[in-house]
Amino acid sequence: MVDLRSDTVSQPTPAMREAMFSAALGDDVFSEDPTVNALESRIASLFGHQAGLFCPSGTMSNQIALAVHTRPGDEVICDEGAHIYRYEGGGLMANSGCSVKLIPGDRGRFTKDQVMAAYNDPAELYSARTSVVSIENTCNRGGGSTWDRSTATEIVTYAKSLGLSTHMDGARIFNALIARNEKPLDWGPLFDSMSICLSKGLGAPVGSVLIGSVEFVAEARRVRKRMGGGMRQAGLLAAAGLHALDHHVERLRDDHARAKAVSDVLSRSSKVEMVMPVETNIVIYVLAKGASAKAHVARLQEHGILAFAIGPDRVRLVFHLDVDDAGTEYTTTILTSLLA
Ligand SMILES: Cc1ncc(COP(=O)(O)O)c(C=O)c1O
Repeated sequence: MVDLRSDTVSQPTPAMREAMFSAALGDDVFSEDPTVNALESRIASLFGHQAGLFCPSGTMSNQIALAVHTRPGDEVICDEGAHIYRYEGGGLMANSGCSVKLIPGDRGRFTKDQVMAAYNDPAELYSARTSVVSIENTCNRGGGSTWDRSTATEIVTYAKSLGLSTHMDGARIFNALIARNEKPLDWGPLFDSMSICLSKGLGAPVGSVLIGSVEFVAEARRVRKRMGGGMRQAGLLAAAGLHALDHHVERLRDDHARAKAVSDVLSRSSKVEMVMPVETNIVIYVLAKGASAKAHVARLQEHGILAFAIGPDRVRLVFHLDVDDAGTEYTTTILTSLLA
């Protein structure tokens, strides 16, 4: 079976399980878990932030960040395909009482001019108060597209000049850094908060770390408790994250190369209308007119390849630690024959 539905499906490696078993533990609600504390401060300092908070999921770290940055009735600016809006169960509205101003970006990326147009003048009392600009890097619905740092810097500079908070959904930030040969410190200091997932390409079973200032994280810790995300001997899970940082970052290049190899095969098929440019580990393609993504995914499954239909004619493949060269070659062979 080659499971390309998501990079969240990977299993912890034997070495990662070993690290988890031998982790030193404590009660993290009392901030006494040494492994959680080590993970939080390691990720925070890697990205030039003061403090971190280990959360059960990327969804929870995004939701906590937005709850801390906003008040009910506020509005968050993000791309129309943003995970915080489309895939977090309406959490922004339910948890924070906020609305969104959606920008039609270029595969998830938008510009300062678009943010300027989306911003509500606070003097207009009938409009929701704009309080946050959130960007996602890499952009999931954009096919793993990455942001250009100068575009993001322009947006952040503008947002800060208006007193807005800035958040990055960095569920796959390490993929973006590897793809662009950038460093965590190139990005971290731009944002008031970042959520960084361990359970996607990095291959840990659970977890996301939310980073920001000491004051931000103190408030985030309160919100995490309120949401039921206060975990106890969570070092068992944090140990997997520390192991992933040591062993699974550089190897993301392999996932990117495998994704590119498969996209090259897809681009040559006349039964594929469009393949999004592949920058990282995600391949999104649109089947030629009339073909059903569901039927195509079912055919792939008959050959032991799992994929996601993310639209009527749109399919997503995601490469990760449990897909090797043999799995990639097998996938290209099957795709070549199904789409001949
Ligand atoms: C861009 C992005 N942000 C956030 C999340 C949420 O992560 P989780 O599944 O851990 O809640 C995901 C999940 O795939 C994602 O793709």
